[in-house]
Amino acid sequence: MSTIEENTKDSVDAAVKEPGAPEKESEKIEPGLAQGSIIVSFVIGLAIALIIGWIVFPALLYSEKEQPFDFSHEVHNDLVDGCESCHYFRDDGTFAGVPKLWLCRDCHEEVQGGTADEETFVYEYVWNDREVPWRIYSKQPDCVFFSHAAHVVKAEMDCETCHGPIGESDSLKPYEENVITGYSRDIWGKSISGLNKKHIWESMKMDDCADCHKEAGMESSVQTKKDACFVCHK
Ligand code: HEC
Ligand code: HEC
Ligand code: HEC
Ligand code: HEC
Ligand code: HEC
Repeated sequence: MSTIEENTKDSVDAAVKEPGAPEKESEKIEPGLAQGSIIVSFVIGLAIALIIGWIVFPALLYSEKEQPFDFSHEVHNDLVDGCESCHYFRDDGTFAGVPKLWLCRDCHEEVQGGTADEETFVYEYVWNDREVPWRIYSKQPDCVFFSHAAHVVKAEMDCETCHGPIGESDSLKPYEENVITGYSRDIWGKSISGLNKKHIWESMKMDDCADCHKEAGMESSVQTKKDACFVCHK
């Protein structure tokens, strides 16, 4: 504490000394010290702001929600013929998305393996004819237009490019909901800054769509272009 008080006092002395008067040895170094402490406080302040903005705020921003029950892709991929048995394109080219109950019913009229998750599924959903209210990790805001056919059929992209390894997983990952917007964490990703993003699927916000479109030479749908908005928005 005392050094700060001395610094202030000395720099006040330095400020009121007559112009042109010879400087004492000690006065020469004080302004440097004062400047140093301004830089130090700036760096500490910046670090606090970044920790709040990038770590504390995002942690408070999301609340974890349960899926109705767990589902293993790994178990089912061995039992059916590829992803498209469940995630298929309809005859009109639209994508069916998450499978509806009728796709599961033939195998799950009765409990097959006896896990608690399967019992929940069979007793609460199949027997009551209730659709499973799955939480969709990749769900975009209603104003966004996205077509699987353009990407998977036309541009021949893999599911994994945009969704990561969900299709091979043994267990559904936690669903994290943004408490302000209600959107899934998968839209903005784990790191809001986006600085340490390694895979395309780690986030799928406006820039992520546009970056890939730019790379693919689709300048007409880069979101900074004024007339591009209605390529991805409806
Ligand atoms: C037996 C049916 C079945 C098969 C086969 C299947 N899935 Fe799924 N898939 C599901 C169900 C049910 C969900 C719903 C879980 C959720 O996301 O809430 C799901 C969810 C997904 C999701 C997450 C969608 C989202 O954003 O929430 C992706 C991605 C996915 N599956 C990819 C694949 C891939 C890739 C394959 C093939 C390797 C595959 N699936 C095979 C039934 C299946
Ligand atoms: C081709 C038949 C078949 C289809 C189609 C199928 N299942 Fe299954 N499912 C099984 C079998 C067999 C098991 C038992 C595996 C075990 O426990 O060894 C199982 C296990 C499960 C389990 C418990 C294990 C786990 O995944 O966590 C759940 C939950 C489940 N199925 C849900 C579904 C849902 C939801 C659908 C529709 C999207 C579906 N199944 C479609 C055959 C099928
Ligand atoms: C170019 C990126 C991209 C590719 C490739 C892609 N998806 Fe998606 N997927 C998305 C986006 C974005 C959404 C959210 C769409 C929305 O909310 O309108 C989505 C949504 C989904 C959903 C949830 C749909 C629903 O019911 O709401 C499933 C399931 C899914 N994708 C599975 C797949 C599978 C399986 C493949 C591979 C055959 C695949 N996706 C390829 C980006 C992609
Ligand atoms: C990893 C690359 C990639 C990502 C990520 C991606 N796209 Fe695309 N998208 C493409 C490519 C390539 C095409 C061109 C397909 C074709 O017509 O051959 C395309 C086409 C489209 C089209 C059709 C436009 C047209 O002019 O034909 C729309 C709409 C679109 N994307 C929206 C989106 C949205 C919204 C997102 C983010 C949620 C997204 N895309 C993410 C690569 C990507
Ligand atoms: C390449 C596809 C793409 C283009 C082009 C694009 N957007 Fe978006 N936009 C998205 C996606 C995906 C989201 C949702 C994810 C997010 O919040 O970043 C979004 C979100 C938004 C939102 C926030 C809406 C909400 O409910 O959170 C606004 C506002 C918006 N866009 C405006 C624009 C405007 C204005 C343009 C034209 C200058 C534009 N967008 C062009 C893909 C696009």
